[in-house]
Amino acid sequence: MKEPKKALLSGVKPTGRPHIGNYFGAMKQFVDLLNTGKYDCYFFIADYHGLNLIQNANEMRENIIELAIDYMAIGLDPKKCVLFKQSDISAHTELAWIFDTITTMPYLMRAHAYKDAEAKDKEISVGTFNYPMLMAADILLYDTDVVPVGQDQKQHVEYARDTAQKFNRIFGETFRVPEPFILEDVKVVPGIDGRKMSKSYGNDINLFATDDEIQKAVMSIVTDSNSTGSAGIPTNVYAIHELIRDKNYLDKLYTEKQGRYKDLKDALVKDLQNFIRPLRDAREKIAKDRKKIIKILEKGAKQARKKADVTLEKAKKNIGVTLK
Ligand code: ADP
Ligand code: TRP
Repeated sequence: MKEPKKALLSGVKPTGRPHIGNYFGAMKQFVDLLNTGKYDCYFFIADYHGLNLIQNANEMRENIIELAIDYMAIGLDPKKCVLFKQSDISAHTELAWIFDTITTMPYLMRAHAYKDAEAKDKEISVGTFNYPMLMAADILLYDTDVVPVGQDQKQHVEYARDTAQKFNRIFGETFRVPEPFILEDVKVVPGIDGRKMSKSYGNDINLFATDDEIQKAVMSIVTDSNSTGSAGIPTNVYAIHELIRDKNYLDKLYTEKQGRYKDLKDALVKDLQNFIRPLRDAREKIAKDRKKIIKILEKGAKQARKKADVTLEKAKKNIGVTLK
């Protein structure tokens, strides 16, 4: 008999347009792993996680649809994987509550995301504080084996592992313990100002940028003396170029054009435009049929619910709230 496939799951918050840092740091792995054909894949829109940040109904609706389009445009084919949104599956929030009852406050206070939020904000919502428990529920409901995420989410996946183990210890074997999947060579992608590329710094290059936007963004990449490598190599330009071109090609180019930043930027503009164009074209096509996108999410929700409800029932039985 054939071995059952491993389950793979990941999610993204619908909080704005993805940039090339999001893509190379996290989303590209989704597509690569899906295309290996080795996994039963679930990809979802973490709208309830996003609600901590987006508190405007129109914006939320738009962001959800846009993210569904992004997912499909990068190659998450709904025929090959389950695409859904978190809020359609009430088992996620229900299980998160169950996890809250076996989790302590000091444990959640050690989460990086909470600590970062605390350092910036005086008032943190309970939803932000509890974020890792909802994420644990997202992961554990699907008997997930593998969770591809960016570096910054690794700790959250470890929280899901800890929570699965703790629950299993208290109530008996219920949840599969998942593994994070982080590509070792995925580096933090720098933004055009040299800091980490991030929506909140306004230093990003949109994953679906137009040719003009790419041109503008690349021309403003910082190449001052702090951001230039030893031999006239503009570090920030190179770091972005490295994402889309192999090392041999780049070594040759950057040696030939050493110190000629304008030429190197021109080369990056061309390469980025060629890389982004097919993604943008795919996106435009998919975006035309909004009804179809909604249908795809509905179908995905049906499939996801089937799996999630079975796991939730098992957990409810094991904690003793199911009487039959
Ligand atoms: P942003 O900082 O732009 O708001 P998010 O926090 O929404 O990005 O990140 C979503 C995912 O994309 C994260 O899991 C993270 O791993 C990845 N990511 C974001 N920015 C970068 C970056 N500059 N380099 C590599 N990965 C990134
Ligand atoms: N926290 C993740 C992020 O900010 C999104 C997310 C929510 C997620 N639930 C998940 C990722 C479950 C993987 C698995 O990027």
